[in-house]
Amino acid sequence: MAWTRAASVAEVKERGVMDADIGGEEIALYWVDEAVYATHNVCTHAFARLSEGFLEGDCIECPIHQAVFNVKTGEVVAPPAYTAVKTYPCRIEGDDVLVDI
Ligand code: FES
Repeated sequence: MAWTRAASVAEVKERGVMDADIGGEEIALYWVDEAVYATHNVCTHAFARLSEGFLEGDCIECPIHQAVFNVKTGEVVAPPAYTAVKTYPCRIEGDDVLVDI
């Protein structure tokens, strides 16, 4: 495990949800409740990038079949996905968002 810079705080804040590539690992970053969260970027139902989905509150809706995941816990909130998406610890250091990956 290693803390790695994924984006600037300003970029995540402005975009709300965005993708990041950390050493080949596809990550989605979210700005929720004045904090940053990270999950794996690929939906657990089929192949779709959650960073292209719709963020509402602390939930991300998959753009393909509309499964909903809680971005803080990774848990499924609405099917058709039934498996939680992996989450990663995040922290802010200065202007940088760091993800433990
Ligand atoms: S690919 Fe995400 S719900 Fe089907």
